[in-house]
Amino acid sequence: MCGIVGYLGDKQAYPILIKGLKRLEYRGYDSAGCALLNENLELKVYKTKGKVSSLEEYCKDKDVSGTLGIAHTRWATHGEPNDTNAHPHYSQSKNLALIHNGIIENYLSIKQMLTKNGYKFQSQTDTEVLVQAIEFVKTKYDCSLFEAVKRTLHFVIGAYAICVIEKGKNDTLVAARKGSPLIVGIGEGDFFIGSDATPIVEYTNNVIYLDDEEVVLLEKGNRPLINTINNEEIEHDISKIELELNDIEKQGYPHFMLKEIFEQPKSFDLCMNGRLNVEKKEIKLSGIIDHIDKFKQCNKIIITACGTSWHAGLIGKYLFEEFCRIPVVVEVASEFRYRNPVIKQGDILIPISQSGETADTLAAIELARKKGAFIYGICNVVGSSIARATDSGTYTHAGPEIGVASTKAFTTQVIVLTMMALSIGKELKTITNEKYESIVKELCNINEKVESILEKAKEIEQISKIFTYARNFMYLGRGYNYPVALEGALKLKEISYIHAEGYPAAEMKHGPIALIDDEMPCVVIAPLLKTYEKVLSNIEEIRSRKGKIIAIVTQGDKDIKNIADMCFEIPQTEECLTSILSVIPLQLFSYYVAVEKGRDVDQPRNLAKSVTVE
Ligand code: G6P
Repeated sequence: MCGIVGYLGDKQAYPILIKGLKRLEYRGYDSAGCALLNENLELKVYKTKGKVSSLEEYCKDKDVSGTLGIAHTRWATHGEPNDTNAHPHYSQSKNLALIHNGIIENYLSIKQMLTKNGYKFQSQTDTEVLVQAIEFVKTKYDCSLFEAVKRTLHFVIGAYAICVIEKGKNDTLVAARKGSPLIVGIGEGDFFIGSDATPIVEYTNNVIYLDDEEVVLLEKGNRPLINTINNEEIEHDISKIELELNDIEKQGYPHFMLKEIFEQPKSFDLCMNGRLNVEKKEIKLSGIIDHIDKFKQCNKIIITACGTSWHAGLIGKYLFEEFCRIPVVVEVASEFRYRNPVIKQGDILIPISQSGETADTLAAIELARKKGAFIYGICNVVGSSIARATDSGTYTHAGPEIGVASTKAFTTQVIVLTMMALSIGKELKTITNEKYESIVKELCNINEKVESILEKAKEIEQISKIFTYARNFMYLGRGYNYPVALEGALKLKEISYIHAEGYPAAEMKHGPIALIDDEMPCVVIAPLLKTYEKVLSNIEEIRSRKGKIIAIVTQGDKDIKNIADMCFEIPQTEECLTSILSVIPLQLFSYYVAVEKGRDVDQPRNLAKSVTVE
């Protein structure tokens, strides 16, 4: 949450910062701002409520010159989204400007101490407390900005990725992180800072990933100097970012979300590439091969995640229990971390995360590690905090996902979980060879089936137009399609702001059926699986209460077609793979409903893609 970007070099900083902010806008869009050091070494701060485009508008007649600058796009935590609470924040003397992603938990006690020392505050944010504290320390110890940041971060509790610049010093930028992401880009004679690689990739592929409690001093003409907050000097290898500019542009699509839905076949190829051998009909995941003994000996697997990734985790439970016969519990990370969960030596924790930065998932990892679990991660973003906090894992390689509503990340997570369950099941001999080969073969063909669904996107668009009137929706599914019902409902809520509930189809009788009337559309995921007849009965129950039925059925279905109001056909596949196909029409449905209602699809209100605060 919140995007930060910085530049120090010979080029004009402002255009680089604005472009960077636009790429990071998925992280929050309540307000935007920048701080620049101009030729006269004056420190200017410009900020405004709203999106980056509002900041551009605001800066039209301002002096935005300078070769050093920092910029921020905000997702509000402390203090409402307004101009004053927008970042950057000045220190009392206006000598320092700071941007921040995270939460300073002990900001109230620091504020009290500063107030006693004569400091006054303009905003309601925790961030302003931090910049004031740095100035207080800098004055008290008469030290450099770099030293003051290290000393201040000593008494700060919470999460932060920060950048600070100082009036009069157009060759120095100080940045630090703990719990929130921060990447340093090393250009030719210049430096970049980003919450992720997207603002940097255009200028350089060479980056340094800072670790928690590390502070970096960037000075023109010098190598980056990295210290821990305890003053230990750190050397980091320079990493390469593997990101194509094309991957982070819309390429003619009206929205990133639509692009990412249509990109799924490409993402599936990347996800299975080198792992799924079509000729030999086998799967090789290096992380699983290296740690197969851990899986052979484990008593239970705990999957933890948030949001859409949690839904993928629920499918993981069905997969691991069916094919590996290992007991699995699936936990929402924010609950798991504050309980006292039973974790024994030898248990395996599988955190799942698209961004690899979700604060609660990271905290769940730390808790499980302390209790002796082996941590095997599933992440999309290479080099992310979660990827680095795990013992081993498998990347989904879905490519950058920018639309706030997750699509291709979900389906590739399910593919990784499937490949894992098959690999482990084969080793444990808990899956027959015939079943293993048949699913592997089907995975090899899955893209043809996905393409055939995408080709019919117009059908979904037509259906969506009929239902934009609805204020509530019900999504029902069973087995592998129960988590798809949850995911379909979440997608609709996120981007169209229509209330939707996902439920296991048979459980509907225990409450939600009371909601059904002639204004309540029900999306029923009803492919031809072992529970088909049962779902058919559930549909009859809805119909007899005048509910409207939109059914996702298997190609050639007759029975449900006869009774549903609308049907969308998906190709037949292995039961354990149906979720990969059935979720796609639901992604498209929520997209088209949101477009029809004029919603901001890629940046829905109140949401952010990377939730780095708890
Ligand atoms: C946010 C995003 C969701 C995502 C969830 C978990 O709520 O809007 O799309 O599913 O965080 O994020 P992660 O990156 O850990 O998968």
